[in-house]
Amino acid sequence: MAHQKWDKETAKSLIQKYSSLQGGLLECMHGLQHHFGCVAPESMDLMASAFNLSRAEVHGVFSFYHDFRSSPAGHKIIQICRAEACQAMGSRGLTAHVQDLLGLKLGETSENGNFTLESVYCLGNCALPPNVSVDGKLYARVSPEKFNKIMTEGA
Ligand code: FES
Repeated sequence: MAHQKWDKETAKSLIQKYSSLQGGLLECMHGLQHHFGCVAPESMDLMASAFNLSRAEVHGVFSFYHDFRSSPAGHKIIQICRAEACQAMGSRGLTAHVQDLLGLKLGETSENGNFTLESVYCLGNCALPPNVSVDGKLYARVSPEKFNKIMTEGA
């Protein structure tokens, strides 16, 4: 889905829509992310005042849920599992390889907007580690060579 560029008036009216709902802050963040592709830092003060909370409280909710982004994701979202089973089978080395290959650190998006690299803690496929997800598609037993292949051939 193509997201709209952040603008204050649209953000304000979206936030207003959720501010009267019980537990609306979380829904509001989902709404903002759905619309703009992220929960932009500029929205924090607007939410704080609409929900009558401090900026720190709003930020606390934002940072608790790992699905929220502060900037839009790249076209391809690459997630490397760093939980126990995958760590034991080389996800640390795989992460270093992927970071070198893409020139990105975990949590970063490339300047051209092509890639976002993230860590996740379990992709639910612990029997076949290490696991990687690319745009939601799961790849098991991923070696650095296999990762290169996934990137070039999508296989
Ligand atoms: S630990 Fe990596 S998929 Fe569960």
